[in-house]
Amino acid sequence: MAVERTLSIIKPDATERNLTGSIIAKLEEAGLRVVAQKRVRWTKEQAEKFYEVHKERPFYGELVAFMTSGPIVVQVLEGENAVLKNREVMGATDPAKADAGTIRKEFAENIERNSVHGSDSLDNAAAEIALNFDEHEIVG
Ligand code: CMP
Repeated sequence: MAVERTLSIIKPDATERNLTGSIIAKLEEAGLRVVAQKRVRWTKEQAEKFYEVHKERPFYGELVAFMTSGPIVVQVLEGENAVLKNREVMGATDPAKADAGTIRKEFAENIERNSVHGSDSLDNAAAEIALNFDEHEIVG
């Protein structure tokens, strides 16, 4: 196993319900370290670019509207096998299908308002981190 970095986002449904700390606790308990973090509100253009891979999906417009509807917390997480580890602690995209104890099982409202995003591969992690952070903002 190797030390990896992955991009995590605490979404507007979670910041709205004041769950930022509870979610970070779950990430840290899983062995992930927050090495960069900022609370921001994305513009429509930023959200469209971030989710460009989903552009042809029927939910793309709603997803962009949701992700710009309130503050988000964008993070870089570091740890052994961080990409997979983060996906395990997040749980399935649809909270109805997420395992017990995962972030989405405990906190998500539905498949769209699903509280967190995590990169799905090492390549995408690098691209998503570069979109959201300058290298000097990441302090490992
Ligand atoms: P995320 O991990 O951020 O990546 C893409 C997002 O699209 C996903 O989490 C969900 O929030 C959203 N999404 C995926 N499938 C659907 C769907 N069927 N309906 C609405 N939103 C979806």
